[in-house]
Amino acid sequence: MANAPLTADDNVIDYLAAHERKGLLRFITCGSVDDGKSTLIGRLLYDSKLLYDDQIATLESDTKKHGTQGEKIDFALLVDGLAAEREQGITIDVAYRFFSTEKRKFIVADTPGHEQYTRNMATGASTADLAVILIDARKGILTQTRRHSFITSLLGIRHIVLAVNKMDLVGYDEDTFRKIEDEYRAFAKPLGFETIACIPVSALEGDNIITRSRRMAWYDGAALLPFLETVNVRSDLAEKPFRLPVQWVNRPDLDFRGFSGTIASGKVKPGDEIVVLPSAKRSKVARIVTMDGDLDEAGPDMAVTVTLKDEIDISRGDIICAGQAPAEQTDQFAAHLLWMAEDTLFPGRQYLMKTANRIIPATVTELKHKIHVNTLEHMSGKTLELNEVGYCNLNLAQPIAFDSYADNRRTGAFILIDKRSNATIGAGMIDFSLRRAQNVHWQDLDINKKARASAKHQRPCVLWFTGLSGSGKSTVANLVEKRLHDLGRHTYTLDGDNVRHGLNKDLGFTDADRVENIRRVGETARLMADAGLITLVSFISPFQSERRMARDLMPDGEFIEVYISTPLAVCEQRDVKGLYAKARRGEIKNFTGIDSAYEAPQGAEIDVDTSEISAADAADRIVEFLQGNGYLEG
Ligand code: ADX
Repeated sequence: MANAPLTADDNVIDYLAAHERKGLLRFITCGSVDDGKSTLIGRLLYDSKLLYDDQIATLESDTKKHGTQGEKIDFALLVDGLAAEREQGITIDVAYRFFSTEKRKFIVADTPGHEQYTRNMATGASTADLAVILIDARKGILTQTRRHSFITSLLGIRHIVLAVNKMDLVGYDEDTFRKIEDEYRAFAKPLGFETIACIPVSALEGDNIITRSRRMAWYDGAALLPFLETVNVRSDLAEKPFRLPVQWVNRPDLDFRGFSGTIASGKVKPGDEIVVLPSAKRSKVARIVTMDGDLDEAGPDMAVTVTLKDEIDISRGDIICAGQAPAEQTDQFAAHLLWMAEDTLFPGRQYLMKTANRIIPATVTELKHKIHVNTLEHMSGKTLELNEVGYCNLNLAQPIAFDSYADNRRTGAFILIDKRSNATIGAGMIDFSLRRAQNVHWQDLDINKKARASAKHQRPCVLWFTGLSGSGKSTVANLVEKRLHDLGRHTYTLDGDNVRHGLNKDLGFTDADRVENIRRVGETARLMADAGLITLVSFISPFQSERRMARDLMPDGEFIEVYISTPLAVCEQRDVKGLYAKARRGEIKNFTGIDSAYEAPQGAEIDVDTSEISAADAADRIVEFLQGNGYLEG
């Protein structure tokens, strides 16, 4: 039955069930069409007369239809992972194929090889145990070979087959092969692979694919398929400390309280001592409950519900860990980040970080260096572009429990999500925690915001003016402040031009610098409001993300966005500082509205256009808004 062709859906289920006991090898193939990748996969499947079925993608729904869901096939796991990414809006171009021999089952993730598809490769590689890296014997090691190897290592793959293809075109010459092998081993040394098997093949002619080729008698290693059937990639997830990210709390009635999720690593038995993070509460496992009854032991990838001997508070997003080997906790860490979005990564901008079971706001605080994916060189840089890899520090809104990626690929990985589009924009691998976080605590001060505000008889808030240069922000803000001052209010104005002479004098007008400019002034405005002041901020603040961040720093109702919506043509015609004229002449680069973006606010509390009403009327409207909404009651 092993090599029987597959015809009907039923056969898939039966077939997989029958072969369930065999080991599974997940691998990825890297290389381009020119390297003969399709030929290689085709040859592998064809020559061994193995099962392959391009409809395997429908396996999951077939499984459901036939009612055997959750029983035997863990193939769904992989498809699930992919579906999650799809929901996050990434177009993934990875084809998964399934085949099986007498000895092993295989899932091959096949990804396009071009430069721009690094993110697809990362998706395929994140669940693979081994990578087959293809090269053309005539061309030898190319930059893409290095890139594939680097990303493979970054994503935790420890086993490599370097398939040196098209040996027929170099006369099956041993020297050619050995040179490539030596060069590759030298290059790959720092990448820390456990196995590197270099195999000379000809996919077209079928040499060294299924059996050893007589045309390369000098090669005494295994042919490709026998190697894949026997290579030891035993996942050590079961040997790692127990981790159960809690997906939901199962509480059907008052007598039962279970914590459900899929075991990320390690094993668990009733009686085992556990510790729950972040609460650090301890207990022992009472039962391991599944659909098919209680278990004596459970391990990685099993969906279970665990009950505990003690009543302790656990919620979705917590991680149940082995009592003796808990995960670490931190809200700041260093990580490798593979950027997957067309939009640039800006340090300082807030994104969402998704781990095994949580979604938390996160910011890249510092890009320490970029890593050239072809040469592995470190390069300095302020931003990351599509498909670039960086090493950076991240800061989270709350601490998470984690392991370093090198220790655990499940609890050390995360993705970054864009807050607005909800698209996946980066894949990260945690390196280590930055201990700083543990040592910095909030100080409870006796005199707090409330006390300071009431001493001033006012309600602090932030009035955030945004708009193009020359739109009238500063003029209107200045009039508003004067009126508030006359009313006896305590105020302060942060103005872009002024703050850029001091606090922000190290920043220019690139997008990255503007993100940092607004991050700093947002924090400053928060401090000013905390001091009890009605704080006016007048910055172009061209990006929605950073205005949102500044808003999120404030309690509800204390951030009032004032959009000075004077049209560009009017601002340019006014050109009070002569900057538009300079920008048009190309003397100033990145000028807002000319060659740098302005993203208009969507839901500003106040919108005034100074080409329609005078600055004095605009100021009146704003003060009336404040009065009408109780901001000036003391
Ligand atoms: S922001 O975009 O980062 O919010 P900010 O409000 O601090 O800008 O500074 C804008 C002021 O800097 C403008 O009023 C203008 O006087 C000056 N400026 C100089 N170069 C530029 C530029 N390239 N784009 C916009 N403003 C500029």
